[in-house]
Amino acid sequence: MIYIKDDFLEQRLLDAILLDKREYQEVKTPGKSFWVKEPSSLLVDYMVNKISYIENRHIENILCFFRQAKEGQDDDWRIHNDTIIQGQQPEKALVLYISKEIKDKLNGTAFWSHKDIGDMYPGGSVDDFNNLLTEDANDVSKWDLKSVIGHKQNRLISYPCNYFHSKYPNEFKENREVLVMFYKTKKINGPYDIKQKTFKNFKSAAGKIIGNARIKNNTYERIKANRNEKQTGCGCESDSAST
Ligand SMILES: [Fe+2]
Repeated sequence: MIYIKDDFLEQRLLDAILLDKREYQEVKTPGKSFWVKEPSSLLVDYMVNKISYIENRHIENILCFFRQAKEGQDDDWRIHNDTIIQGQQPEKALVLYISKEIKDKLNGTAFWSHKDIGDMYPGGSVDDFNNLLTEDANDVSKWDLKSVIGHKQNRLISYPCNYFHSKYPNEFKENREVLVMFYKTKKINGPYDIKQKTFKNFKSAAGKIIGNARIKNNTYERIKANRNEKQTGCGCESDSAST
């Protein structure tokens, strides 16, 4: 089952993530590079807790990272499934769209059907999995496009790992940033006991990040104001001085 949750994070938590200006690091894999950065453990705990609550199952995170695509970076189709991640078999994957939506054309996450195999990977050896990735992943003539879920900031989508998918389209001129997580789930008896402490930890960390950024912005504003005063004082004929 694919599901979508819009407005997944509270606005100030999303704001805290958007303030993270660490550079993405290139990770080279055979024939392909990814640009990623690691999320804080507080954010990962928060995600695990919230998804457990939504699905009412215990979630085990296998791998979670931020990923970036932009012009000239990560621009292959790479239609694939996520059934083997770091030697493990996750059950589901999620994508949380972090960057603002690109308005002029459809973009997001695409689901495909392989002309011989169908829309789900039926399983097989590691070699089968790798062959599909190296031989058919970038040949769209081997696939039928079935659906595209539009990128919307703060929208989360979750899908089974055996569904064939890709980003859509393959190339992005503007910056596309998402948080990705691969996870296993386990049945629980009764309602999930949400861990309020995990929520509070991430919220207070986000509050601190935003608070620090505000202090920095204020300092910047003060510097700018001082500069303007000096310009006016020395009679500069800038646009602002003449109005
Ligand atoms: Fe994937």
